[in-house]
Order: sequence, then structure tokens, then C-alpha cells
Amino acid sequence: MQTVTTDSPKKAAEFIKRGGIVAFPTETVYGLGANIFDPAAIAKVFKAKRRPADNPLIAHVSDVQQIGELAAEITDSARKFIDAFFPGPLTVVLQRSSKVPLIASAGLDTIGIRMPRYETARGFLSASGVPVAAPSANLSGRPSPTTWQAVAEDLDGRIDCILQGDASEIGIESTVVDCTSDVPVILRSGSISLEQLRAVVEETRAVDLYVNHVTRSPGMRHPHYSPHARVIVVKSGHVEQTASAAYIGLNPPHIRFEHGYVCRNVEEYAHSLFEFFRECDRRGIEKIYCESVAETGIGAALMDRLRRAAAA
Ligand code: TXA
Ligand code: MG
Repeated sequence: MQTVTTDSPKKAAEFIKRGGIVAFPTETVYGLGANIFDPAAIAKVFKAKRRPADNPLIAHVSDVQQIGELAAEITDSARKFIDAFFPGPLTVVLQRSSKVPLIASAGLDTIGIRMPRYETARGFLSASGVPVAAPSANLSGRPSPTTWQAVAEDLDGRIDCILQGDASEIGIESTVVDCTSDVPVILRSGSISLEQLRAVVEETRAVDLYVNHVTRSPGMRHPHYSPHARVIVVKSGHVEQTASAAYIGLNPPHIRFEHGYVCRNVEEYAHSLFEFFRECDRRGIEKIYCESVAETGIGAALMDRLRRAAAA
């Protein structure tokens, strides 16, 4: 398959209208989208990224009106989060309407819904005219792509179109919050923090990872975010000299690395992490030392991604 690369949201949306699949930029990471009401197009998304069929996709909307077509009911907590954080890096999980094909929600009776705020994403979604079901635009198991070049690295020749945009501003995926019951539960940490959600709905909880994450968020049991290199999470300064190793963190390491990156703050660390992993793979690096950070704000999501990469 020939993959068309364009910077025109309208041209990219034409592929969605004709049943094709399109990678598009958002403020979190790039997504790989299809018309949510077209099961054959959604099947192409699973195939192109070799995604397990039991992992549901997020519905991306351009307008809050579209939520009514996707959700059977909008709960009070969901309404509050939507008012506070849409458009932005938050996904709310609700009971799905019967219009949503089973393949999109991987057989679950719920659907995750998000409205990106990045201008190019909004133009693309509104030109598509339908909600767009999309996972991140990487091959399953690889770090999420934060540039269109990273999308091409994984998916060139496997998808219809890549909509080019800037590097993703945030660089880490959206926060996923289950709003189906009275107590909202964070299923995946992201750039909207637990503290921010609690300021809007006080009862919000972080998921008890060891009790029910397997049943509630299928994606969390699949391997994630891993470069080929071995990832080692370290406290400031605890690094060893090894051949073909790399370092990323907030503090300068006390030894020189073949490839090292000191970030100005935790936001820049989150923004840079996945692209840093990919760059290490391009250079054939074998070990990546990642400095741990405090688990507040986006630091919680960053530590989640580092632990997953280290476990892979
Ligand atoms: O920022 C993001 O969320 C990006 C951009 C493209 O929007 N998307 C993204 O999608 O990261 P994906 O498919 O790579 O990750 C979605 C996560 C998975 O862990 C999935 O299992 C979970 O959200 N998820 C999606 N729908 C769900 C549902 N109905 N119930 C529970 N978990 C759900
Ligand atoms: Mg993903």
C-alpha cells in the first residue's frame, strides 16, 4: 500500500470518508484513526498496528454534540470532567451506545471518548464528519509516536495517509478515567493528574492496579512503550559506565554517555521520552538509564511509562 503524506487536514479526512485509515497529530501522541461507524475500516487499524483484538480504541470527537451518539448515558462526573478538560488530554469512559460497533470497543460495553485540543487534529476531525476511533499510531508494543516521522518509521506502507503536524506538545498519552460509576477511577495515568481530577470530582481514585486493572482496562496488561534497548530506572546519580548506554533525566549524570539528554523540567522530560527511546533504537543503544522523578502532576504518568518500559 502507498502511504500518502500530507499537511492538509481536509485531504486526510477524505481518506476517512472513503473507509481508509489515517495517522494524525494530537497534543498527546499521534493517533491512527478510522470512521468509528465503519467496522471494516476499524479492522484495518487493528491489522496495521498488529494490535490485539481485545484492546479497545478511543473515540475522538470534534464537538461535544458527538458524545451523545457514542455514549448511552453521560454521568454527572463525566459531565463535570468534560466541562473542565475538553478539549484536552483526557479520555472519559462511559457506557457505549448501540451505534458503536463491537470491534471498536473490543467487545466491552463501554467506550472511551476524547476531544483533542491540537488545532490540526480538530480540523481533521471536523472535516471527517464522524467520530474517529484511534489508538496511538505505533506498531503494538513500540513507544507511542510523537512526530510524523516516527509514525512513518512504524507504519509507512501499512496505512493510507499520514497527516503531518508538529511534534506532540505533551508527548505522553491522555489520562483515561472510568466515569461509569459514582466514583471515577483513573485507568491510565496521563497528563491530567489525579490532583487536577480531584479538584473537579473529589471522589476520583487511582485504579488499584493489582485488583482490577486487568478487567477494567485491557490495554494495561499488554506490553507497552518499550524500546529495543533495556530500560533501567535510577535515582539521581546512580548510573554505571557501560558501553553503548544512554541517559535521560533532570540532573546531569556524573559520567559521560554516548547519548545523553538533560531535561529542563518534568514537562520537557515527558515531552521527550518516547522520541528519545526511538532515537536510542536508531543508534543501536543497548541500555537506557532513566532518572526517576517525583510522582506528582505529570511525574506520575512519566513514572508509569518508565516502569512499564523497564518491565518489558
Ligand atoms: O492520548 C491518547 O489517548 C492517544 C491519542 C491518539 O488520543 N491514544 C491512545 O490510544 O493512547 P491507545 O489505544 O494507544 O491507548 C488507549 C488506552 C488503552 O490502554 C486501552 O485499553 C484503554 O485506553 N481504553 C480504551 N477504551 C477503553 C474502555 N472502554 N475501557 C477501558 N479502557 C479503555
Ligand atoms: Mg497505544
